Amino acid sequence: MNLIFSKLAIGLFLFFRVALSLEIHADKECTVSPLGDGQDDTDQVLAAISQCGTNGTITFTEGSFNITRKMIWELESATVHLFGYMNFVPDVEYWLNMSNTYQVVFIQSQSSWFVVTGSDFEIDAHNTGGIQGNGQTWWNFFSNRTREDGDGRPIALTLYNATRGIIRNFRIESQPFWCNCVAESEDVLYDGMLCNATNTNPEFAGTNLVPNTDGIDTYRSNNITLLNWDITCGDDCLAIKGNTTNLLVRNVTCNGGNGIAFGSLGQYFNLSDNVENVYMEDLKMVRLPSSVQPNMGTGVYFKTWTGEVNGTPPTGGGGGTGHVRNVTVQRMNVDQVDIPVHVYQTNGGSASETPSTLMFSGLHFDDWVGNATGSTIVEFVCSPAVNCTDLTFESFDVTTPSNEAPRYICQNVTSILGLQAPCNATGEA
Ligand SMILES: *[C@@H]1O[C@H](CO)[C@@H](O)[C@H](O)[C@H]1NC(C)=O
Ligand SMILES: *[C@@H]1O[C@H](CO)[C@@H](O)[C@H](O)[C@H]1NC(C)=O
Ligand SMILES: *[C@@H]1O[C@H](CO)[C@@H](O)[C@H](O)[C@H]1NC(C)=O
Ligand SMILES: *[C@@H]1O[C@H](CO)[C@@H](O)[C@H](O)[C@H]1NC(C)=O
Ligand SMILES: *[C@@H]1O[C@H](CO)[C@@H](O)[C@H](O)[C@H]1NC(C)=O
Ligand SMILES: *[C@@H]1O[C@H](CO)[C@@H](O)[C@H](O)[C@H]1NC(C)=O
Ligand SMILES: *[C@@H]1O[C@H](CO)[C@@H](O)[C@H](O)[C@H]1NC(C)=O
Ligand SMILES: *[C@@H]1O[C@H](CO)[C@@H](O)[C@H](O)[C@H]1NC(C)=O
Ligand SMILES: *[C@@H]1O[C@H](CO)[C@@H](O)[C@H](O)[C@H]1NC(C)=O
Ligand SMILES: *[C@@H]1O[C@H](CO)[C@@H](O)[C@H](O)[C@H]1NC(C)=O
Ligand SMILES: *[C@@H]1O[C@H](CO)[C@@H](O)[C@H](O)[C@H]1NC(C)=O
Ligand SMILES: *[C@@H]1O[C@H](CO)[C@@H](O)[C@H](O)[C@H]1NC(C)=O
Repeated sequence: MNLIFSKLAIGLFLFFRVALSLEIHADKECTVSPLGDGQDDTDQVLAAISQCGTNGTITFTEGSFNITRKMIWELESATVHLFGYMNFVPDVEYWLNMSNTYQVVFIQSQSSWFVVTGSDFEIDAHNTGGIQGNGQTWWNFFSNRTREDGDGRPIALTLYNATRGIIRNFRIESQPFWCNCVAESEDVLYDGMLCNATNTNPEFAGTNLVPNTDGIDTYRSNNITLLNWDITCGDDCLAIKGNTTNLLVRNVTCNGGNGIAFGSLGQYFNLSDNVENVYMEDLKMVRLPSSVQPNMGTGVYFKTWTGEVNGTPPTGGGGGTGHVRNVTVQRMNVDQVDIPVHVYQTNGGSASETPSTLMFSGLHFDDWVGNATGSTIVEFVCSPAVNCTDLTFESFDVTTPSNEAPRYICQNVTSILGLQAPCNATGEA
């Protein structure tokens, strides 16, 4: 391990401490390089965090750090330069043992192998480093097994109970499961994030071998900013979950997957999911060659469970109330998406069940261009218990395949403005 302390700073520290008896701290600096040769870097990585993670600076040099067990980085007033990759060993059976990961993300009882917590920190991976998730091994492993929420597949990077944190120019190569999650956090900025879940096993060409590789799930967090993201995944590019408030998203490209999700919401009957004040702009959905990733589901979609309790989370649930209000999605470019804008309130159930009381209002879609694979351009299938209201469209110009009349479907919608044709139950003109 190389821990390089600034001699000058320590000298000043001792001088002031003796001379003035003041609590002035040393500026601590740690530098860590990979040990190489099949050796385990986890100890030295954690030692650097413990030595310099408060009021200090840590530099991880380029290269691959072999990480063999779960890590929490607790950072207080600290900067981390991560030029290399935290490389999580692809030992699937080991990580699936729940005691080898953290269960800090409450929703769906998800697991994390790497948790960052604390306040006033910045992790800058300089576009050269981040996390190597070794996802291909995981995707192959699960190709003939059932995948379930809460089954222990680890989130690649979890920010938990973090305040005033910055994640910059960070790369996450082949996330096994969700790429990012931010939970119970506030005032967090992510500027520059790459996630890439791309199957390269020819045996599975043309299938979506990478479900659940969401770009990020946001939960119980306020004032989160996501700038300059590039996500390749087979699921939700962004998933805005319960009690996400004041979220700003700008310049996000989603390559393949389901598009941007609000939800799922209302899974826990005893917890309301309230999502408020979301502003997203400069978004791009890109359909990949189907041999690589067959799905490109939506531009943006909103989903709730029904009002009925069907089993218990993480895999079942429903019956939760709440609301989604004041959402703007503007300057969106969709490339051959299935349904550009979609709302449904029957996740995990059916329309014959007690309807959801989770209400959507104030959803605004401005400056959209591009095309859909079918004729349905918008589909709002809202709950009759509460309806959707105050839906507006401005400069919404998404085209259907040649000669097909666009369908605008609205069920249980109280107020909708700005579409070029009426929005009704069947979408037929
Ligand atoms: C990581 O460390 C483990 C345990 O020491 C070792 O068995 C493995 O070979 C190392 N992996 C790499 C890629 O260095
Ligand atoms: C870190 O800095 C803060 C504020 O300067 C100080 O109160 C605290 O004691 C320092 N902690 C350590 C472990 O250096
Ligand atoms: C999955 O496939 C692997 C090899 O392809 C095989 O060893 C394993 O038994 C299979 N598992 C199940 C649950 O079918
Ligand atoms: C969250 O962080 C704060 C300090 O930032 C700490 O006091 C608190 O105990 C942490 N809460 C949990 C549940 O970890
Ligand atoms: C929101 O977080 C950003 C950091 O991303 C911070 O600059 C800003 O002051 C915060 N806003 C509020 C209202 O606290
Ligand atoms: C994602 O990974 C695939 C397969 O390794 C690679 O071909 C592609 O260039 C990567 N994309 C990005 C944006 O890095
Ligand atoms: C948008 O984000 C991408 C990274 O995903 C970056 O390369 C590009 O420069 C950003 N564009 C702008 C206008 O900032
Ligand atoms: C969301 O916040 C409300 C209070 O504003 C609270 O009642 C509810 O339990 C929270 N939901 C979750 C999922 O934490
Ligand atoms: C709606 O959200 C925007 C941020 O997207 C915020 O500036 C505005 O104040 C919110 N409006 C209301 C009525 O809360
Ligand atoms: C669909 O839209 C995308 C993005 O605007 C564009 O690149 C593509 O050429 C369009 N395809 C067709 C068939 O119009
Ligand atoms: C409202 O929703 C119910 C249940 O999904 C459905 O049966 C009904 O047709 C909808 N009403 C309208 C006007 O679309
Ligand atoms: C919901 O909207 C439908 C029209 O789609 C309307 O007939 C019904 O009265 C509304 N229900 C509520 C609860 O606002």
